Amino acid sequence: MQFQNEKEKVLIVDFGSQVTKLIARRVRELGVFSEIITPKNIRKLKKYNNIKGLILSGGPSTVTKKKFQSIPDELFKKGIPILGICYGLQLIAKVFGGSIKPSKKNREFGRAFLIKKNTSLLTKNFLKTKQTVWMSHEDAVVKLPKNFRVVASSKDSKLTIIENENKKIYGVQFHPEVTHTENGKQIFKNFLFLICKIKKKWNINSQKTRLINEIRNTVKTEKVICALSGGVDSSVVALLINKAIKRNLICIMVDTGLMRKNEFKDTYKIFKKRYNLNVKLVDCSKLFLNKLKNITHPEKKRKIIGNLFIKVFEKEAKKYNNIKFLAQGTLYPDIIESRSSSGSKTSKIKSHHNVGGLPNKMNLKLLEPLKEFFKDEVRILGNSLGLVKSINYKHPFPGPGLGIRIIGNITKERVKILQEADFIFINELIKKNLYKKIWQAYAALLPIKTVGVMGDSRTYENICLLRAVTSEDGMTADYFSFPKNFIDSISNKIINNVKGINRVVYDITSKPPSTVELE
Ligand code: XMP
Repeated sequence: MQFQNEKEKVLIVDFGSQVTKLIARRVRELGVFSEIITPKNIRKLKKYNNIKGLILSGGPSTVTKKKFQSIPDELFKKGIPILGICYGLQLIAKVFGGSIKPSKKNREFGRAFLIKKNTSLLTKNFLKTKQTVWMSHEDAVVKLPKNFRVVASSKDSKLTIIENENKKIYGVQFHPEVTHTENGKQIFKNFLFLICKIKKKWNINSQKTRLINEIRNTVKTEKVICALSGGVDSSVVALLINKAIKRNLICIMVDTGLMRKNEFKDTYKIFKKRYNLNVKLVDCSKLFLNKLKNITHPEKKRKIIGNLFIKVFEKEAKKYNNIKFLAQGTLYPDIIESRSSSGSKTSKIKSHHNVGGLPNKMNLKLLEPLKEFFKDEVRILGNSLGLVKSINYKHPFPGPGLGIRIIGNITKERVKILQEADFIFINELIKKNLYKKIWQAYAALLPIKTVGVMGDSRTYENICLLRAVTSEDGMTADYFSFPKNFIDSISNKIINNVKGINRVVYDITSKPPSTVELE
């Protein structure tokens, strides 16, 4: 599906920083449409007239080598306002004749404080007496380029903010996009509204109507099929498309038997009864369990579940005639990650399961209405489509489901034990108002038994592992610090209510080095 290009946008050139996505989010949060583009793709643009501002991201490369990444020279001469961040600042300095040095003395990592040298539009309402910013750089600009002036310094680097007001070109050595930079959003506000003079136009609710119209114009009277999982992405996709084409949308829910307790049947009811969607529930739990018998290797499990899912979905789809489109809940981060600046995909740590293999095999066109949005934007869209809160704010759940949370052998009994434990954990989080503070929480079952004592008897039962992490996008994560009273009570609640568990442990590793899921 081709989306109409927004007229006014800010382009963020991704030089490979870990936090480029955050720049796009900050700009969008301020009501301005932004897109991330690679240095390679910006060379392919034929016209620049809808670019109202350019932000050059940070990145691991250095301009001190002979060959370095840049953007077409003419973009520096077009009068388009430019803000360079970290590597972006160094690139600006290089292009305009400054000097940059890799330097042990000037490198800064972590917190730094700014010292004001000149007033600037970029730093209006930002620079305070002791302004904290977040640094992460080895190279530093050591000589100002011609016609630039310094706006602020830090203790270790003199040229921390520089500007050429006439050309509207600005550079900052620190990272205003990260939350550790105090009031960093003000830098973007000033750049967008005082320097680029862009108007606030982007808001998710206005996008809803556009999306619905575009789906209608693309699909016309054809049929669309969608795998509905009950997660927020596929649910929002289904509601959006349903608004556009109603009964021509067919939703299929494949119950692998590896979902959380009651989740699938409840979701089915919500979509069938409340939203009146054309939805079919296919119960395949026995089939999945059979195929997974005695399979303990994580990747094998993932492959079996993924392939079987596609097979079942395909078989169901064949029961309908003339389907032309497959709808998927692809999000903007998925798109960015598959075309990172270095061209290298984020290394495949685990084979993620989705229905991406389908269109080729089934000759379907892809419909991906959420591919411009971040998860939190999808949730705003979900809200405005009336999606129930229990689905709209649900934690992410992996495609292979509990299959990768039951370490070792997967049996019907173990699935049941885990479903009960997870149900208690999640409900307690909701009751204690902790659920929304956590990116993702779940219970897992370890493949070892340990000894316990309950009443007067000795027990020899399973270990339940609890995991709860905070994260922005699942790429990095921190374990959640529970209040002591919560952690004190949760193991008793689980052990007292779930037969088969006599020990509960809490996972305190971050990502990296661990991953969010265990397999
Ligand atoms: P990891 O375990 O790689 O997880 O740190 C990061 C995020 O991705 C989710 N995840 C998956 N999602 N299919 C999915 O749709 C998968 O196979 C899959 N594996 C992991 C995980 O739950 C977390 O949110």
